[in-house]
Amino acid sequence: MLHLEGIDSVVLEDRSREYVEHRVRAGVLEQTTVDLLTDVGLGERLGREGLVHDGIELQFAGERHRIDFPSLTGGRRITVYGQQEVVKDLIAARLETGRPLLFEVSGVRVEAFESEAPVIRFRHEEKDVELHCDVIAGCDGFHGVCRDSIPAGALTAFERDYPFAWLGILAAAPPSNEELIYAYHARGFALHSMRSPEITRLYLQVRPDEDLDEWPDDRIWEELERRLGLEGWTLNTGEVLEKGVTGMRSFVVEPMQSGRLLLAGDAAHIVPPTGAKGLNLAVADVRILAERIAAWYRGDRSALDGYSSEALRRVWRAEHFSWFMTSMLHRLEGGDEFDAKLQLAQLAYVADSELAAASLAENYVGLEHV
Ligand code: PHB
Repeated sequence: MLHLEGIDSVVLEDRSREYVEHRVRAGVLEQTTVDLLTDVGLGERLGREGLVHDGIELQFAGERHRIDFPSLTGGRRITVYGQQEVVKDLIAARLETGRPLLFEVSGVRVEAFESEAPVIRFRHEEKDVELHCDVIAGCDGFHGVCRDSIPAGALTAFERDYPFAWLGILAAAPPSNEELIYAYHARGFALHSMRSPEITRLYLQVRPDEDLDEWPDDRIWEELERRLGLEGWTLNTGEVLEKGVTGMRSFVVEPMQSGRLLLAGDAAHIVPPTGAKGLNLAVADVRILAERIAAWYRGDRSALDGYSSEALRRVWRAEHFSWFMTSMLHRLEGGDEFDAKLQLAQLAYVADSELAAASLAENYVGLEHV
């Protein structure tokens, strides 16, 4: 986006190109994300290979209930396209511009961002490099260096940990259902998703300290079958290509900026994966940030100041939605039957009330004006 505005930038990545292009992450793009990628010229392969979905299914008490997005949201949809595919397209487009994208940099330090002359120091190809710049976009994830470089006391963190995690697999099996299935079950949550007509992505709620060694493939398939199974429906199985356990957390820092250092995506906030918002929020942040950096170069010296408050409105909406989906769909270990009854009442409300379903659908496809 900066390139399209004629603004010079240097992109620093601490991993290799191979690593980031193959790291399995989320896969649901909001309509707003698809629109933005298309506007900046990245819509070609996405349009060809992305799987457009008109809804999701909620499963509970032995039944599936479809939430139809277009009819509830004035024609909006989601697209299933792996995050690493977005990363491949971004890298290819960046290389085409001829502007620098450095992989495997190390020892990155961001300095003097409270002044008008920020500096980034790092090592690349066995040389120490010092980069002088106007603005630093801290897009380096939850464990990156940017947020931690801001003096303690300048930021306030808000967080919530959940007492469960997701065990996720990628399998060489055709999806067993056309749409995603979010299943609430007495044994815990399960999710059926996909990446392509040949590849299924599946998740099981497990304990946060779950040991993957205790989950041979057969046990994973059996548990998925139990939680997702319905009369007359079969779960397609296949070779397990990848498996991992992901913790669940909500986290936000305010403000998302300090001087000329502006945080975007996971560097500033984390959502649990239940609402499929992580990647979409990162894209929403950088859209706002790129527009404000461009306005700043055009001479609006206050353009950067409002970045955090504009971005945080959407961040907190997505934090609420992700927390809501997570709370509605997961079994609480040690939770009593009262909790379960509340969850089932909420699920029934969403399934039976068009207004409740419309609210879920509007948040899921991505709000237009937040
Ligand atoms: C995924 O396909 O990886 C996926 C889909 C929906 C979610 C989370 C993950 O809510």
